[in-house]
Amino acid sequence: MQHYNDRQWWKEVVVYQIYPRSFKDSDGDGIGDLKGIVEKLDYIKSLGVDVVWLNPVYESPNDDMGYDISDYRAIMQQFGTMDDFDTLLKGLHDRGIRLMMDLVVNHTSDEHYWFKESKKSRDHPYRNYYHWWDAEKGKPPYRWSIFDKESNAWKYDAHTNSYYFHIFSEKQPDLNWENPQVRREVYDMMKWWMDKGVDGFRLDVITCISKDISFPSLPEHMPVGDWFPYYAKGPNLHAYLQEMHREVFSKYDCMNVGEASGVNINDALLFVDEDRNELQTFYHFEHTGFGISKENFMYADDDNRDLTEWKKVFRNWDQVFAEKGWGTIYLGNHDMSRMTSRFGNDSIQFRELSAKMLHTFLLSMRATPYIYNGDEIGMVNTNHTNIAHYQDIYTINYYNQLKQKGEDYQGFLNSHSKISRDNGRTPLQWDDTWQAGFTTGNPWLALHENYQTLNVAEQESRPDSVLHYFRTMMQLRKNHITLIYGTFELVDECNKQLFAYIRHSDHQKLLVVLNFSEEQALLDTEIDLANSNILISNYEDPSRNKWYKPFEAVIYEIKH
Ligand code: GLC
Repeated sequence: MQHYNDRQWWKEVVVYQIYPRSFKDSDGDGIGDLKGIVEKLDYIKSLGVDVVWLNPVYESPNDDMGYDISDYRAIMQQFGTMDDFDTLLKGLHDRGIRLMMDLVVNHTSDEHYWFKESKKSRDHPYRNYYHWWDAEKGKPPYRWSIFDKESNAWKYDAHTNSYYFHIFSEKQPDLNWENPQVRREVYDMMKWWMDKGVDGFRLDVITCISKDISFPSLPEHMPVGDWFPYYAKGPNLHAYLQEMHREVFSKYDCMNVGEASGVNINDALLFVDEDRNELQTFYHFEHTGFGISKENFMYADDDNRDLTEWKKVFRNWDQVFAEKGWGTIYLGNHDMSRMTSRFGNDSIQFRELSAKMLHTFLLSMRATPYIYNGDEIGMVNTNHTNIAHYQDIYTINYYNQLKQKGEDYQGFLNSHSKISRDNGRTPLQWDDTWQAGFTTGNPWLALHENYQTLNVAEQESRPDSVLHYFRTMMQLRKNHITLIYGTFELVDECNKQLFAYIRHSDHQKLLVVLNFSEEQALLDTEIDLANSNILISNYEDPSRNKWYKPFEAVIYEIKH
Protein backbone atom coordinates (compact mmCIF):
# COMPACT_ATOMS: atom_id res chain seq x y z
CA MET A 1 0.00 0.00 0.00
CA GLN A 2 1.11 3.56 -0.59
CA HIS A 3 1.74 4.92 2.87
CA TYR A 4 -0.06 7.92 4.15
CA ASN A 5 3.24 9.72 4.34
CA ASP A 6 3.24 9.58 0.52
CA ARG A 7 0.12 11.72 0.65
CA GLN A 8 -0.13 14.39 -2.02
CA TRP A 9 -3.05 16.71 -2.66
CA TRP A 10 -3.19 15.74 -6.33
CA LYS A 11 -3.73 12.11 -5.37
CA GLU A 12 -6.70 13.02 -3.19
CA VAL A 13 -8.57 15.39 -5.49
CA VAL A 14 -11.49 14.67 -7.80
CA VAL A 15 -11.24 16.39 -11.17
CA TYR A 16 -14.26 17.71 -13.03
CA GLN A 17 -13.74 18.13 -16.77
CA ILE A 18 -15.54 21.04 -18.41
CA TYR A 19 -16.00 21.10 -22.18
CA PRO A 20 -16.51 24.87 -22.46
CA ARG A 21 -18.23 24.80 -25.82
CA SER A 22 -21.09 22.78 -24.40
CA PHE A 23 -21.27 23.86 -20.78
CA LYS A 24 -23.21 27.15 -20.65
CA ASP A 25 -23.67 29.91 -23.19
CA SER A 26 -23.99 33.40 -21.69
CA ASP A 27 -24.49 35.49 -24.85
CA GLY A 28 -26.92 33.57 -27.01
CA ASP A 29 -24.57 32.63 -29.87
CA GLY A 30 -25.17 28.94 -29.21
CA ILE A 31 -21.60 28.33 -28.04
CA GLY A 32 -20.72 27.83 -24.41
CA ASP A 33 -18.29 30.41 -23.02
CA LEU A 34 -16.25 31.47 -20.01
CA LYS A 35 -18.91 33.78 -18.60
CA GLY A 36 -21.29 30.85 -18.79
CA ILE A 37 -18.94 28.79 -16.62
CA VAL A 38 -18.68 31.73 -14.21
CA GLU A 39 -22.49 31.72 -13.90
CA LYS A 40 -22.30 28.10 -12.80
CA LEU A 41 -19.46 28.35 -10.29
CA ASP A 42 -21.69 27.64 -7.32
CA TYR A 43 -23.06 24.57 -9.05
CA ILE A 44 -19.51 23.33 -9.70
CA LYS A 45 -18.66 23.94 -6.06
CA SER A 46 -21.79 22.09 -4.96
CA LEU A 47 -20.52 18.94 -6.67
CA GLY A 48 -17.65 18.76 -4.19
CA VAL A 49 -14.98 18.57 -6.89
CA ASP A 50 -11.51 19.98 -6.21
CA VAL A 51 -10.03 20.66 -9.64
CA VAL A 52 -11.49 21.74 -12.97
CA TRP A 53 -9.83 20.64 -16.19
CA LEU A 54 -10.85 23.01 -18.94
CA ASN A 55 -10.62 21.82 -22.53
CA PRO A 56 -8.67 24.30 -24.70
CA VAL A 57 -9.91 27.89 -24.55
CA TYR A 58 -7.08 29.47 -26.53
CA GLU A 59 -7.46 31.31 -29.83
CA SER A 60 -8.22 28.75 -32.50
CA PRO A 61 -9.89 28.43 -35.90
CA ASN A 62 -11.64 25.36 -34.46
CA ASP A 63 -10.82 22.81 -37.08
CA ASP A 64 -10.67 20.34 -34.17
CA MET A 65 -12.68 22.27 -31.57
CA GLY A 66 -9.83 24.16 -29.98
CA TYR A 67 -7.15 21.47 -30.28
CA ASP A 68 -5.69 23.55 -33.11
CA ILE A 69 -4.27 26.57 -31.32
CA SER A 70 -3.34 29.72 -33.22
CA ASP A 71 -2.31 31.78 -30.17
CA TYR A 72 -1.33 30.19 -26.86
CA ARG A 73 -1.60 33.45 -24.96
CA ALA A 74 -5.05 34.57 -26.12
CA ILE A 75 -8.59 33.42 -25.43
CA MET A 76 -10.80 32.18 -28.26
CA GLN A 77 -13.16 35.01 -29.15
CA GLN A 78 -16.19 32.73 -29.07
CA PHE A 79 -15.34 31.93 -25.45
CA GLY A 80 -14.77 35.51 -24.29
CA THR A 81 -11.78 37.58 -23.21
CA MET A 82 -8.74 37.28 -20.99
CA ASP A 83 -10.66 39.30 -18.38
CA ASP A 84 -13.36 36.63 -18.43
CA PHE A 85 -10.67 34.03 -17.95
CA ASP A 86 -9.23 35.91 -14.98
CA THR A 87 -12.71 36.17 -13.46
CA LEU A 88 -13.20 32.45 -13.86
CA LEU A 89 -9.83 31.63 -12.33
CA LYS A 90 -10.51 33.88 -9.36
CA GLY A 91 -14.04 32.52 -8.96
CA LEU A 92 -12.68 28.99 -8.81
CA HIS A 93 -9.88 29.87 -6.40
CA ASP A 94 -12.29 31.77 -4.15
CA ARG A 95 -14.20 28.52 -3.85
CA GLY A 96 -11.11 26.45 -3.16
CA ILE A 97 -11.11 24.84 -6.62
CA ARG A 98 -7.98 24.56 -8.72
CA LEU A 99 -7.80 24.98 -12.50
CA MET A 100 -5.95 22.73 -14.91
CA MET A 101 -5.45 23.98 -18.48
CA ASP A 102 -5.21 21.82 -21.58
CA LEU A 103 -1.70 21.91 -23.01
CA VAL A 104 -1.70 21.12 -26.74
CA VAL A 105 1.91 21.18 -27.84
CA ASN A 106 2.36 18.23 -30.15
CA HIS A 107 0.94 20.48 -32.83
CA THR A 108 -0.37 23.99 -33.40
CA SER A 109 -2.91 25.37 -35.82
CA ASP A 110 -1.64 26.09 -39.34
CA GLU A 111 -2.83 29.61 -38.54
CA HIS A 112 -0.32 29.98 -35.72
CA TYR A 113 2.31 32.64 -36.37
CA TRP A 114 5.10 30.04 -36.16
CA PHE A 115 3.60 27.96 -38.95
CA LYS A 116 2.76 30.92 -41.13
CA GLU A 117 6.41 31.95 -40.91
CA SER A 118 7.68 28.41 -41.29
CA LYS A 119 5.88 28.05 -44.61
CA LYS A 120 7.50 31.10 -46.11
CA SER A 121 10.84 29.64 -47.19
CA ARG A 122 13.12 26.70 -46.62
CA ASP A 123 15.71 28.83 -44.87
CA HIS A 124 13.32 30.78 -42.68
CA PRO A 125 14.29 30.88 -38.97
CA TYR A 126 10.94 29.25 -38.13
CA ARG A 127 11.31 26.49 -40.72
CA ASN A 128 12.56 24.00 -38.14
CA TYR A 129 9.61 24.55 -35.84
CA TYR A 130 7.77 21.88 -37.84
CA HIS A 131 8.60 18.67 -39.72
CA TRP A 132 9.21 19.35 -43.41
CA TRP A 133 10.15 16.85 -46.13
CA ASP A 134 11.68 18.29 -49.30
CA ALA A 135 9.95 16.96 -52.38
CA GLU A 136 13.25 16.28 -54.23
CA LYS A 137 13.69 13.33 -51.86
CA GLY A 138 10.56 11.80 -53.38
CA LYS A 139 7.28 11.20 -51.62
CA PRO A 140 7.69 10.75 -47.86
CA PRO A 141 6.91 7.26 -46.48
CA TYR A 142 3.19 6.97 -45.93
CA ARG A 143 1.81 7.94 -42.56
CA TRP A 144 -1.84 7.52 -41.69
CA SER A 145 -3.50 10.59 -40.19
CA ILE A 146 -6.39 10.46 -37.78
CA PHE A 147 -8.38 13.41 -39.06
CA ASP A 148 -7.11 13.89 -42.59
CA LYS A 149 -9.61 13.88 -45.43
CA GLU A 150 -7.48 11.31 -47.26
CA SER A 151 -5.93 9.66 -44.22
CA ASN A 152 -2.55 11.05 -45.21
CA ALA A 153 -0.35 12.71 -42.61
CA TRP A 154 1.84 14.45 -45.21
CA LYS A 155 0.49 17.58 -46.84
CA TYR A 156 2.19 18.96 -49.92
CA ASP A 157 2.90 22.67 -49.91
CA ALA A 158 3.69 24.00 -53.38
CA HIS A 159 5.20 27.28 -52.19
CA THR A 160 8.38 25.58 -50.95
CA ASN A 161 7.90 22.29 -52.81
CA SER A 162 7.82 20.33 -49.53
CA TYR A 163 5.51 18.25 -47.42
CA TYR A 164 4.72 18.93 -43.77
CA PHE A 165 3.73 16.34 -41.22
CA HIS A 166 0.45 16.32 -39.30
CA ILE A 167 -0.77 13.35 -37.26
CA PHE A 168 -4.14 15.04 -36.90
CA SER A 169 -5.84 17.28 -39.47
CA GLU A 170 -3.92 19.19 -42.14
CA LYS A 171 -4.68 22.27 -40.06
CA GLN A 172 -2.75 20.75 -37.12
CA PRO A 173 0.92 20.58 -38.18
CA ASP A 174 3.17 18.75 -35.71
CA LEU A 175 5.74 20.84 -33.87
CA ASN A 176 9.35 19.73 -34.14
CA TRP A 177 10.36 18.99 -30.57
CA GLU A 178 13.91 18.21 -31.66
CA ASN A 179 14.36 21.94 -32.04
CA PRO A 180 15.45 23.37 -28.64
CA GLN A 181 13.93 26.72 -29.54
CA VAL A 182 10.48 25.09 -29.81
CA ARG A 183 10.86 23.52 -26.41
CA ARG A 184 11.95 26.83 -24.90
CA GLU A 185 8.92 28.59 -26.38
CA VAL A 186 6.62 25.91 -24.94
CA TYR A 187 8.12 26.10 -21.45
CA ASP A 188 7.95 29.90 -21.48
CA MET A 189 4.31 29.73 -22.44
CA MET A 190 3.59 27.19 -19.72
CA LYS A 191 5.28 29.39 -17.12
CA TRP A 192 3.30 32.38 -18.35
CA TRP A 193 0.08 30.53 -17.50
CA MET A 194 1.41 29.22 -14.22
CA ASP A 195 2.50 32.73 -13.23
CA LYS A 196 -1.02 33.85 -13.98
CA GLY A 197 -2.14 31.43 -11.30
CA VAL A 198 -3.33 28.29 -13.07
CA ASP A 199 -2.67 25.10 -11.15
CA GLY A 200 -1.45 22.72 -13.80
CA PHE A 201 -1.92 21.09 -17.15
CA ARG A 202 -3.51 18.16 -18.87
CA LEU A 203 -1.01 17.30 -21.59
CA ASP A 204 -2.65 16.50 -24.91
CA VAL A 205 -1.20 13.49 -26.85
CA ILE A 206 2.02 14.03 -24.96
CA THR A 207 3.61 10.72 -25.98
CA CYS A 208 3.64 11.96 -29.60
CA ILE A 209 6.03 14.87 -29.02
CA SER A 210 9.05 12.66 -29.65
CA LYS A 211 8.87 10.45 -32.72
CA ASP A 212 11.21 8.77 -35.13
CA ILE A 213 11.82 11.68 -37.48
CA SER A 214 13.70 9.58 -39.99
CA PHE A 215 10.14 8.49 -40.86
CA PRO A 216 10.92 4.88 -41.84
CA SER A 217 8.43 3.03 -44.05
CA LEU A 218 5.54 1.36 -42.24
CA PRO A 219 5.09 -2.40 -42.37
CA GLU A 220 2.38 -3.42 -44.82
CA HIS A 221 -1.20 -3.83 -43.55
CA MET A 222 -0.42 -2.36 -40.15
CA PRO A 223 -3.56 -1.96 -38.01
CA VAL A 224 -3.92 1.54 -36.66
CA GLY A 225 -3.65 0.13 -33.14
CA ASP A 226 0.04 -0.65 -33.82
CA TRP A 227 0.97 2.87 -34.83
CA PHE A 228 2.74 4.02 -31.70
CA PRO A 229 6.33 3.10 -32.43
CA TYR A 230 6.06 5.16 -35.62
CA TYR A 231 4.25 8.18 -34.29
CA ALA A 232 4.95 8.35 -30.59
CA LYS A 233 7.18 7.26 -27.72
CA GLY A 234 10.22 8.37 -29.69
CA PRO A 235 13.80 8.20 -28.44
CA ASN A 236 13.75 11.57 -26.67
CA LEU A 237 10.37 11.43 -24.98
CA HIS A 238 11.65 10.88 -21.46
CA ALA A 239 14.40 13.44 -21.86
CA TYR A 240 11.83 16.03 -22.92
CA LEU A 241 9.48 15.22 -20.06
CA GLN A 242 12.34 15.50 -17.61
CA GLU A 243 13.28 18.80 -19.13
CA MET A 244 9.67 20.01 -18.86
CA HIS A 245 9.65 18.96 -15.23
CA ARG A 246 12.90 20.76 -14.54
CA GLU A 247 11.96 23.91 -16.43
CA VAL A 248 8.32 24.19 -15.37
CA PHE A 249 6.70 21.69 -13.01
CA SER A 250 9.45 21.66 -10.40
CA LYS A 251 9.04 25.41 -9.93
CA TYR A 252 5.36 25.33 -8.93
CA ASP A 253 2.99 23.49 -6.61
CA CYS A 254 0.96 22.11 -9.47
CA MET A 255 -0.73 19.12 -10.99
CA ASN A 256 -0.33 17.39 -14.33
CA VAL A 257 -1.83 14.49 -16.22
CA GLY A 258 -0.63 13.27 -19.58
CA GLU A 259 -2.82 11.81 -22.29
CA ALA A 260 -0.69 8.75 -22.77
CA SER A 261 -1.57 7.00 -25.98
CA GLY A 262 0.49 3.87 -26.35
CA VAL A 263 1.73 3.62 -22.77
CA ASN A 264 1.27 0.17 -21.25
CA ILE A 265 1.80 -1.48 -17.89
CA ASN A 266 5.40 -2.30 -18.75
CA ASP A 267 6.59 1.22 -19.36
CA ALA A 268 4.09 3.08 -17.17
CA LEU A 269 6.47 3.75 -14.31
CA LEU A 270 9.01 5.34 -16.61
CA PHE A 271 6.57 8.24 -16.81
CA VAL A 272 5.37 8.57 -13.22
CA ASP A 273 7.95 7.09 -10.86
CA GLU A 274 8.55 10.12 -8.62
CA ASP A 275 12.31 9.56 -8.67
CA ARG A 276 12.43 10.09 -12.43
CA ASN A 277 10.95 13.61 -12.27
CA GLU A 278 8.67 13.38 -15.29
CA LEU A 279 4.89 13.37 -14.87
CA GLN A 280 2.68 12.94 -11.82
CA THR A 281 -0.02 10.96 -13.59
CA PHE A 282 -1.32 10.01 -17.01
CA TYR A 283 -4.34 8.33 -18.46
CA HIS A 284 -4.25 5.31 -20.71
CA PHE A 285 -6.86 3.78 -23.00
CA GLU A 286 -6.82 0.11 -22.15
CA HIS A 287 -10.21 -0.05 -20.47
CA THR A 288 -11.90 2.47 -22.75
CA GLY A 289 -10.69 0.63 -25.84
CA PHE A 290 -12.88 -2.37 -24.99
CA GLY A 291 -15.69 -2.60 -27.51
CA ILE A 292 -13.88 -0.52 -30.12
CA SER A 293 -12.33 -1.96 -33.26
CA LYS A 294 -8.53 -2.13 -33.05
CA GLU A 295 -8.33 -1.83 -36.83
CA ASN A 296 -9.05 1.88 -36.88
CA PHE A 297 -10.79 2.87 -33.60
CA MET A 298 -13.91 3.94 -35.52
CA TYR A 299 -16.28 0.99 -35.19
CA ALA A 300 -18.14 -0.20 -32.12
CA ASP A 301 -17.44 -3.86 -31.55
CA ASP A 302 -19.96 -4.92 -28.94
CA ASP A 303 -18.99 -8.57 -28.86
CA ASN A 304 -15.59 -7.72 -27.57
CA ARG A 305 -16.72 -6.99 -24.00
CA ASP A 306 -16.07 -9.45 -21.26
CA LEU A 307 -16.30 -8.11 -17.71
CA THR A 308 -13.70 -10.55 -16.40
CA GLU A 309 -11.17 -9.24 -18.91
CA TRP A 310 -12.12 -5.66 -18.13
CA LYS A 311 -11.64 -6.25 -14.41
CA LYS A 312 -8.18 -7.63 -15.03
CA VAL A 313 -7.20 -4.44 -16.81
CA PHE A 314 -7.95 -2.43 -13.66
CA ARG A 315 -6.27 -4.97 -11.40
CA ASN A 316 -3.12 -4.97 -13.52
CA TRP A 317 -2.92 -1.21 -13.63
CA ASP A 318 -3.52 -0.96 -9.90
CA GLN A 319 -0.60 -3.30 -9.30
CA VAL A 320 1.69 -1.13 -11.41
CA PHE A 321 1.18 1.73 -8.98
CA ALA A 322 1.17 -0.32 -5.78
CA GLU A 323 4.47 1.11 -4.55
CA LYS A 324 5.35 3.96 -6.87
CA GLY A 325 3.60 6.39 -9.17
CA TRP A 326 -0.12 7.00 -9.11
CA GLY A 327 -3.02 6.27 -11.46
CA THR A 328 -6.09 8.00 -12.80
CA ILE A 329 -9.58 6.66 -13.36
CA TYR A 330 -12.16 7.82 -15.89
CA LEU A 331 -15.00 6.45 -17.97
CA GLY A 332 -15.89 9.46 -20.04
CA ASN A 333 -14.40 12.56 -21.63
CA HIS A 334 -14.80 14.76 -24.71
CA ASP A 335 -13.28 12.05 -26.92
CA MET A 336 -15.75 9.37 -25.89
CA SER A 337 -19.42 8.62 -25.94
CA ARG A 338 -21.32 8.92 -22.65
CA MET A 339 -20.25 6.57 -19.88
CA THR A 340 -23.81 5.57 -18.97
CA SER A 341 -24.53 4.45 -22.53
CA ARG A 342 -21.14 2.84 -23.02
CA PHE A 343 -20.54 1.04 -19.73
CA GLY A 344 -23.99 1.09 -18.13
CA ASN A 345 -27.41 0.92 -19.72
CA ASP A 346 -29.22 4.00 -20.98
CA SER A 347 -32.75 2.58 -21.10
CA ILE A 348 -35.28 4.45 -18.96
CA GLN A 349 -35.41 1.47 -16.61
CA PHE A 350 -31.68 1.29 -15.89
CA ARG A 351 -30.24 4.67 -16.78
CA GLU A 352 -30.15 6.13 -13.29
CA LEU A 353 -29.22 2.91 -11.56
CA SER A 354 -26.33 2.26 -13.88
CA ALA A 355 -25.09 5.87 -13.76
CA LYS A 356 -25.03 5.67 -9.95
CA MET A 357 -23.27 2.32 -10.10
CA LEU A 358 -20.58 3.79 -12.39
CA HIS A 359 -20.04 6.75 -10.04
CA THR A 360 -19.64 4.32 -7.17
CA PHE A 361 -16.93 2.67 -9.24
CA LEU A 362 -15.13 5.87 -10.29
CA LEU A 363 -15.08 7.22 -6.76
CA SER A 364 -14.00 4.05 -4.99
CA MET A 365 -10.86 3.19 -6.93
CA ARG A 366 -7.23 3.80 -5.96
CA ALA A 367 -6.48 6.55 -8.49
CA THR A 368 -7.38 10.19 -9.11
CA PRO A 369 -10.93 10.24 -10.52
CA TYR A 370 -11.91 12.34 -13.54
CA ILE A 371 -15.60 13.13 -13.95
CA TYR A 372 -16.78 14.46 -17.29
CA ASN A 373 -19.39 17.23 -17.20
CA GLY A 374 -22.92 15.93 -17.65
CA ASP A 375 -22.05 12.52 -16.22
CA GLU A 376 -23.00 13.80 -12.78
CA ILE A 377 -26.61 13.70 -14.01
CA GLY A 378 -26.13 10.61 -16.17
CA MET A 379 -26.46 12.21 -19.61
CA VAL A 380 -26.64 9.66 -22.42
CA ASN A 381 -25.70 9.18 -26.09
CA THR A 382 -27.62 10.67 -28.99
CA ASN A 383 -26.50 7.78 -31.25
CA HIS A 384 -27.16 9.73 -34.45
CA THR A 385 -27.01 7.72 -37.65
CA ASN A 386 -27.41 10.69 -39.98
CA ILE A 387 -24.20 12.56 -40.83
CA ALA A 388 -26.09 15.88 -40.85
CA HIS A 389 -26.13 15.71 -37.04
CA TYR A 390 -22.35 15.60 -36.72
CA GLN A 391 -19.85 18.41 -36.12
CA ASP A 392 -16.77 16.33 -35.30
CA ILE A 393 -14.05 16.39 -37.96
CA TYR A 394 -13.10 12.84 -36.99
CA THR A 395 -16.49 11.38 -37.88
CA ILE A 396 -17.16 13.62 -40.88
CA ASN A 397 -13.85 13.03 -42.65
CA TYR A 398 -13.91 9.29 -42.17
CA TYR A 399 -17.49 9.11 -43.40
CA ASN A 400 -16.63 11.16 -46.51
CA GLN A 401 -13.64 8.98 -47.25
CA LEU A 402 -15.77 5.84 -47.23
CA LYS A 403 -18.34 7.54 -49.40
CA GLN A 404 -15.74 8.58 -51.95
CA LYS A 405 -14.31 5.08 -52.03
CA GLY A 406 -17.80 3.65 -52.53
CA GLU A 407 -17.63 1.76 -49.23
CA ASP A 408 -20.39 1.16 -46.71
CA TYR A 409 -20.58 4.62 -45.16
CA GLN A 410 -24.02 4.09 -43.66
CA GLY A 411 -22.93 0.84 -42.02
CA PHE A 412 -19.98 2.72 -40.61
CA LEU A 413 -22.20 5.41 -39.13
CA ASN A 414 -24.62 2.91 -37.64
CA SER A 415 -21.74 1.33 -35.76
CA HIS A 416 -19.78 4.50 -35.02
CA SER A 417 -22.86 6.29 -33.66
CA LYS A 418 -22.44 4.34 -30.41
CA ILE A 419 -18.91 5.60 -29.79
CA SER A 420 -18.68 8.92 -31.62
CA ARG A 421 -17.20 11.88 -29.79
CA ASP A 422 -20.22 14.10 -30.46
CA ASN A 423 -22.23 11.86 -28.12
CA GLY A 424 -20.22 13.31 -25.27
CA ARG A 425 -20.31 16.88 -26.58
CA THR A 426 -24.02 17.69 -26.69
CA PRO A 427 -24.88 20.73 -24.57
CA LEU A 428 -25.29 20.31 -20.86
CA GLN A 429 -28.92 19.93 -19.90
CA TRP A 430 -29.63 22.51 -17.20
CA ASP A 431 -33.43 22.51 -17.14
CA ASP A 432 -36.52 21.73 -19.20
CA THR A 433 -36.91 25.18 -20.77
CA TRP A 434 -36.08 26.22 -24.35
CA GLN A 435 -32.70 24.74 -25.36
CA ALA A 436 -32.36 23.17 -21.91
CA GLY A 437 -31.23 26.46 -20.40
CA PHE A 438 -27.92 26.05 -22.22
CA THR A 439 -28.43 28.93 -24.64
CA THR A 440 -31.05 31.39 -25.80
CA GLY A 441 -29.91 30.85 -29.41
CA ASN A 442 -29.29 27.81 -31.55
CA PRO A 443 -26.82 25.40 -29.99
CA TRP A 444 -23.72 24.62 -32.06
CA LEU A 445 -24.53 20.93 -31.65
CA ALA A 446 -28.12 19.82 -31.17
CA LEU A 447 -29.27 18.95 -27.68
CA HIS A 448 -30.22 15.46 -26.70
CA GLU A 449 -33.97 15.20 -27.16
CA ASN A 450 -34.44 13.89 -23.62
CA TYR A 451 -33.51 17.20 -21.95
CA GLN A 452 -37.05 17.82 -20.71
CA THR A 453 -36.84 14.87 -18.38
CA LEU A 454 -33.09 14.57 -17.87
CA ASN A 455 -31.68 17.82 -16.56
CA VAL A 456 -29.93 19.40 -13.59
CA ALA A 457 -32.96 21.27 -12.23
CA GLU A 458 -35.11 18.16 -12.14
CA GLN A 459 -32.37 16.23 -10.38
CA GLU A 460 -31.72 19.00 -7.85
CA SER A 461 -35.34 18.72 -6.77
CA ARG A 462 -35.39 14.93 -6.44
CA PRO A 463 -33.42 13.41 -3.54
CA ASP A 464 -32.93 10.02 -5.22
CA SER A 465 -31.46 11.48 -8.44
CA VAL A 466 -28.07 10.63 -9.93
CA LEU A 467 -26.90 14.12 -9.02
CA HIS A 468 -27.62 13.70 -5.31
CA TYR A 469 -26.12 10.24 -5.33
CA PHE A 470 -22.99 11.63 -6.98
CA ARG A 471 -22.61 14.24 -4.25
CA THR A 472 -23.09 11.65 -1.52
CA MET A 473 -20.51 9.38 -3.10
CA MET A 474 -18.08 12.31 -3.40
CA GLN A 475 -18.51 12.97 0.30
CA LEU A 476 -17.94 9.31 1.08
CA ARG A 477 -14.61 9.36 -0.73
CA LYS A 478 -13.58 12.46 1.21
CA ASN A 479 -14.58 10.88 4.51
CA HIS A 480 -12.85 7.55 3.97
CA ILE A 481 -9.19 7.81 3.17
CA THR A 482 -9.25 4.05 2.60
CA LEU A 483 -11.07 4.76 -0.65
CA ILE A 484 -8.10 6.80 -1.80
CA TYR A 485 -5.02 5.00 -0.50
CA GLY A 486 -6.25 1.57 0.59
CA THR A 487 -5.04 -1.53 -1.24
CA PHE A 488 -7.21 -2.95 -4.01
CA GLU A 489 -7.99 -6.62 -4.32
CA LEU A 490 -10.50 -8.28 -6.63
CA VAL A 491 -13.15 -10.54 -5.09
CA ASP A 492 -14.81 -13.34 -7.10
CA GLU A 493 -12.59 -12.49 -10.03
CA CYS A 494 -14.27 -14.88 -12.45
CA ASN A 495 -17.75 -13.46 -11.94
CA LYS A 496 -18.97 -12.27 -15.32
CA GLN A 497 -21.58 -9.85 -13.95
CA LEU A 498 -20.14 -8.49 -10.74
CA PHE A 499 -17.13 -6.26 -10.28
CA ALA A 500 -16.26 -6.63 -6.59
CA TYR A 501 -13.18 -5.57 -4.67
CA ILE A 502 -11.80 -4.93 -1.24
CA ARG A 503 -10.21 -1.63 -0.31
CA HIS A 504 -8.09 -2.17 2.76
CA SER A 505 -6.16 0.21 5.01
CA ASP A 506 -4.62 -0.13 8.49
CA HIS A 507 -7.89 0.78 10.14
CA GLN A 508 -10.61 -0.21 7.71
CA LYS A 509 -11.77 -2.86 5.26
CA LEU A 510 -14.33 -1.93 2.62
CA LEU A 511 -16.02 -4.22 0.12
CA VAL A 512 -17.35 -2.63 -3.07
CA VAL A 513 -19.82 -4.70 -5.09
CA LEU A 514 -21.03 -3.48 -8.49
CA ASN A 515 -23.43 -5.35 -10.72
CA PHE A 516 -22.56 -4.44 -14.30
CA SER A 517 -25.46 -6.48 -15.69
CA GLU A 518 -29.22 -6.30 -16.15
CA GLU A 519 -29.68 -9.62 -14.35
CA GLN A 520 -29.53 -10.66 -10.73
CA ALA A 521 -26.09 -11.90 -9.78
CA LEU A 522 -24.62 -13.90 -6.91
CA LEU A 523 -21.31 -12.98 -5.31
CA ASP A 524 -19.16 -15.95 -4.48
CA THR A 525 -17.29 -14.97 -1.32
CA GLU A 526 -16.72 -16.11 2.26
CA ILE A 527 -16.84 -12.56 3.55
CA ASP A 528 -19.49 -12.16 6.21
CA LEU A 529 -21.82 -9.35 5.18
CA ALA A 530 -24.40 -9.86 7.88
CA ASN A 531 -22.72 -7.56 10.43
CA SER A 532 -21.25 -5.15 7.98
CA ASN A 533 -22.05 -1.50 7.89
CA ILE A 534 -23.51 -0.30 4.58
CA LEU A 535 -21.94 3.01 3.58
CA ILE A 536 -23.82 3.61 0.35
CA SER A 537 -26.10 1.88 -2.13
CA ASN A 538 -28.12 2.82 -5.18
CA TYR A 539 -31.11 0.71 -4.01
CA GLU A 540 -33.29 1.40 -0.99
CA ASP A 541 -32.89 -2.18 0.19
CA PRO A 542 -29.27 -3.06 -0.45
CA SER A 543 -28.34 -6.71 -0.58
CA ARG A 544 -27.07 -8.54 2.48
CA ASN A 545 -27.48 -12.01 1.06
CA LYS A 546 -24.88 -11.75 -1.75
CA TRP A 547 -27.55 -11.61 -4.46
CA TYR A 548 -27.39 -8.34 -6.35
CA LYS A 549 -30.14 -6.70 -8.33
CA PRO A 550 -29.52 -5.25 -11.82
CA PHE A 551 -26.82 -2.56 -11.69
CA GLU A 552 -26.84 -2.64 -7.91
CA ALA A 553 -23.92 -0.93 -6.19
CA VAL A 554 -23.09 -1.33 -2.50
CA ILE A 555 -20.12 -0.40 -0.35
CA TYR A 556 -19.84 -2.35 2.92
CA GLU A 557 -17.58 -1.64 5.83
CA ILE A 558 -16.55 -5.10 6.96
CA LYS A 559 -16.26 -5.69 10.69
CA HIS A 560 -13.10 -7.50 11.70
C1 GLC B 1 -6.42 14.57 -28.02
C2 GLC B 1 -7.67 15.33 -27.66
C3 GLC B 1 -8.60 15.28 -28.83
C4 GLC B 1 -7.93 15.96 -30.00
C5 GLC B 1 -6.58 15.34 -30.29
C6 GLC B 1 -5.75 16.22 -31.18
O1 GLC B 1 -6.65 13.24 -28.22
O2 GLC B 1 -8.22 14.81 -26.50
O3 GLC B 1 -9.83 15.89 -28.56
O4 GLC B 1 -8.75 15.84 -31.13
O5 GLC B 1 -5.81 15.16 -29.13
O6 GLC B 1 -5.31 17.33 -30.49
